[in-house]
Amino acid sequence: MAVLWLLLATLSFAALGKAAADGLPPCDFPALYNFGDSNSDTGGISAAFSPISTPYGTRFFGKPAGRDADGRLIVDFIAEQVKVPYLSAYLNSLGTNYRHGANFATGGSTIRRQNETIFEYGISPFSLDMQIVQFDQFKDRTADMFAQGKDSGERGRLPVPGEFAKALYTFDIGQNDLSVGFRKLSSDQLKAALPDIVSQLASAVQNIYDRGGRSFWIHNTGPIGCLPTNFFYNHNPPPGYLDDHGCVKTQNEMAIELNRQIKEMVIKLRGQLKDAAITYVDVFTAKFGLIGNAKAEGFADPFKVCCGYHENYDHIWCGGKGMVNGTEVYGGSCESPATYISWDGVHYTEGANHWVANRILNGSLSDPPIPITLACHRV
Ligand SMILES: *[C@@H]1O[C@H](CO)[C@@H](O)[C@H](O)[C@H]1NC(C)=O
Ligand SMILES: *[C@@H]1O[C@H](CO)[C@@H](O)[C@H](O)[C@H]1NC(C)=O
Ligand SMILES: *[C@@H]1O[C@H](CO)[C@@H](O)[C@H](O)[C@H]1NC(C)=O
Repeated sequence: MAVLWLLLATLSFAALGKAAADGLPPCDFPALYNFGDSNSDTGGISAAFSPISTPYGTRFFGKPAGRDADGRLIVDFIAEQVKVPYLSAYLNSLGTNYRHGANFATGGSTIRRQNETIFEYGISPFSLDMQIVQFDQFKDRTADMFAQGKDSGERGRLPVPGEFAKALYTFDIGQNDLSVGFRKLSSDQLKAALPDIVSQLASAVQNIYDRGGRSFWIHNTGPIGCLPTNFFYNHNPPPGYLDDHGCVKTQNEMAIELNRQIKEMVIKLRGQLKDAAITYVDVFTAKFGLIGNAKAEGFADPFKVCCGYHENYDHIWCGGKGMVNGTEVYGGSCESPATYISWDGVHYTEGANHWVANRILNGSLSDPPIPITLACHRV
């Protein structure tokens, strides 16, 4: 009986999704604004600090492209889907074009401001509150420059002020709040901090809404316990430490709890922001599904890392050099990145990003279940 109910519930949910999307006109987003961490950084941290080096980026861009992958990120597939160019990083001062949006994400960003810095633990100073301050400044200054611009040449790389209200605002952030928490807090302390983390994410959305934004696409956080780095120095995990996919159980449980609270927050915000269309996107389920089903999906062992040298207790990060057994070793790329899920132990390959994008962009893992091209509609 329970199974039948579940089946009926699933069917009606699917029908609802289809019905929700039926007959809605496409949104034609003129611009895309993204906030996040390394999962969606398209050049921010490279511009602000030292550039991400080769072999990052080589598979798709033919050279490093400010991204922590061999090629495109999910945010690049989003740009393709909504038909805007790949996003320039707000922090990049060279060769940028903001006509169709900007990217405020930086590698190592957290939702909450942290005390530690990029130089100690790879934590970015551009936490979400700073990204929002940068967005506010971006909006005001580009409006001013647009008003002063005499012709399309002078205005060509600036956003059209009236288009901020029609733009899509995407968020993919929170994973580093967990990784800092795992390092510095007890499990109870981290759990107690989750409501504050989620409330700061809500404030960011509210701020953009107050500035005229209406369409929001919010990714939940991925299965952080499945990152191969978890196993670099922990070769013999005790019984019960891993879940049935081979990931660190307590870490994924924390991610699931964070996600539960993010989803609750999204539902609450919909009540408060009457003109907002806010879509909650279950990236966790997509990534976890890929990891649990890697072989059938055409990928190798999900815990194997494509780029870098990781054997026994010797670890040379992707693109780096180090000594192993008295010889210098280069942390280069594997032969066939397309078959790997993990690019460098922390970040996914372009192939995995593409797989995940294909699962999330059509709305099958969203609440409400509408594709990204319809995410301007409040359903
Ligand atoms: C940063 O440090 C201050 C002072 O030690 C402390 O009160 C605060 O809670 C810390 N913040 C975070 C996010 O760890
Ligand atoms: C270093 O030595 C270990 C143990 O003998 C061996 O498994 C590994 O392949 C060696 N690594 C290199 C880069 O020579
Ligand atoms: C979305 O795409 C995935 C992967 O191709 C597919 O399994 C799923 O049925 C699609 N869902 C919808 C609602 O189109």
